[in-house]
Amino acid sequence: MTKQTLILAVETSCDETSVSVIADGHQILSNSVLSQIDSHKRFGGVVPEVASRHHVENITLMVEDALTTAQVTMDDIDAVAVTQGPGLIGALLVGVNAAKALAFAHNKPLIPVHHIAGHIYANQLDKGLTFPLMALIVSGGHTELVLMRNHLNFEVIGETRDDAVGEAYDKVARTIGLPYPGGPHVDKLAAEGIDSYDFPRVWLEPDSFDFSFSGLKSAVINKLHNLKQKGETPIPENVAASFQNSVVEVLVGKAIRACEQYDVKQLIVAGGVASNRGLRAELERATEAHGITLSIPEPKLCTDNAAMIGAVAYYLYQQGVTADMALNGKSNMFLETI
Ligand code: KG4
Ligand code: ZN
Repeated sequence: MTKQTLILAVETSCDETSVSVIADGHQILSNSVLSQIDSHKRFGGVVPEVASRHHVENITLMVEDALTTAQVTMDDIDAVAVTQGPGLIGALLVGVNAAKALAFAHNKPLIPVHHIAGHIYANQLDKGLTFPLMALIVSGGHTELVLMRNHLNFEVIGETRDDAVGEAYDKVARTIGLPYPGGPHVDKLAAEGIDSYDFPRVWLEPDSFDFSFSGLKSAVINKLHNLKQKGETPIPENVAASFQNSVVEVLVGKAIRACEQYDVKQLIVAGGVASNRGLRAELERATEAHGITLSIPEPKLCTDNAAMIGAVAYYLYQQGVTADMALNGKSNMFLETI
């Protein structure tokens, strides 16, 4: 039997400190994730400086935990991978420096990984990628439609022109008095309400695969304002259901049109909002109706984790893509040129 390729991957781009050991790009030997959500909750959002400090406190513990759980030592590891960007620069730097130190001390290759490529490759850990594919990325910082004709080949065909979908969820949640991060709370509430507020569906130009969510967010805020002025009380469940229906209709509508236009074999969904129950249900219904194969990772692989970074790194490793000790974190980074 040939020896498996083991990659130790590090992810610290936002508010999760995560380290994972991945075999051959698809088998998860460990995926240690420490979420900082409880720490940021009281501020109503992620505080970058607080995030960096927590990463510094926890990164060594997570490396030890990932190695112990995988029952391997650094001697068994073939390469060290790390999220280079995009993300919060202070947070990214903690992971990048930890990965550099590990690679240098143990004389292993260092592999830089794009965070969004990681979200896409979470599907490689689940059902696997079948090309050509369309990826719908829905996270707290990104909303994109990405065409992939092969491994590591990314063509962004549409993206948000303003807010990311997760960001819109979190802002609407705050407006109706729900705690951070609001997405899962809005999702839960939406299941108990009806679409009664008639919020706009923002399609942009007919042939565009871009998205825009700031108008919808303002429509929700204005509606709540108007009701208050008239002395009426909004029904939170119905606000959540109306907002979610508007988001889901546009996301699914554009994703299906993109799949048909580019004649892909698979639609994959990635990012934190991919755990949204309303979105998952509508995607299942629409893909079945259009004969498209759908892949959505299990919820714990939808949110930030290092296993997805290790999955991409395996293919970069095979192509000999490595970085030297000058590697730096990047808050902005293009997916198409990695
Ligand atoms: O991908 P992710 O973990 O972090 C980023 O890279 O951004 O996504 C976090 C986002 C947050 O905005 C959170 O509110 C949203 O994903 N989210 C959800 C749900 N679960 C997480 N949004 C809607 N419905 C959910 N069930
Ligand atoms: Zn993410």
